[in-house]
Amino acid sequence: MQVQMERTLVIIKPDALNRSIVGEIISRFEKKGLKIVAMKMQRLQEEKLREHYGKHKDKDFFNDLIKYMSSIPSVLLVLEGKEAVDVVRKMTGNTVGRKAEPGTIRGDFSMSVQVNIVHASDSAEEAKREVRRFFSEEEIQHYSKLDFDWVYSSDEKK
Ligand code: RTP
Ligand code: MG
Repeated sequence: MQVQMERTLVIIKPDALNRSIVGEIISRFEKKGLKIVAMKMQRLQEEKLREHYGKHKDKDFFNDLIKYMSSIPSVLLVLEGKEAVDVVRKMTGNTVGRKAEPGTIRGDFSMSVQVNIVHASDSAEEAKREVRRFFSEEEIQHYSKLDFDWVYSSDEKK
């Protein structure tokens, strides 16, 4: 059976490591029913971050953002599921932690516009580029997860 699933990139940012909430964040995604298909810890290099945040290169906060994101390691995940990009963006919440709804990751853990705990891809196209930017094909795992039949209905698995 061919199941149409989407992938998205999540970066658990340096502030989440410093605040000891990495496990809690991964746990939220797992409990939601998203499938972890890749995961690693890495100190992100400035060059790659400049590419990743390219659309902000002319903003005042750009250099600060690169410095913060490369200061200590991050944890990177590829999550898979139906409409995973949209689901994860909703779970992440407003960019500005102070404005993010309680119940979202930023709403529960962040007070900042920049130091905001997680990155999540913002479209399916961008997700494909971002997954390729940070993960090689060999790092993506292919496996059947036992809870699959209980996360989706028969229709949704077609
Ligand atoms: P992300 O890409 O990290 O998932 O966040 P986002 O889509 O909600 O926000 P975006 O506009 O793409 O901004 C990317 C990241 O840049 C930092 N930022 N700092 N005024 C500031 O200091 C400022 N504005 C944005 C944040 O870390 C934001 O997540
Ligand atoms: Mg963004």
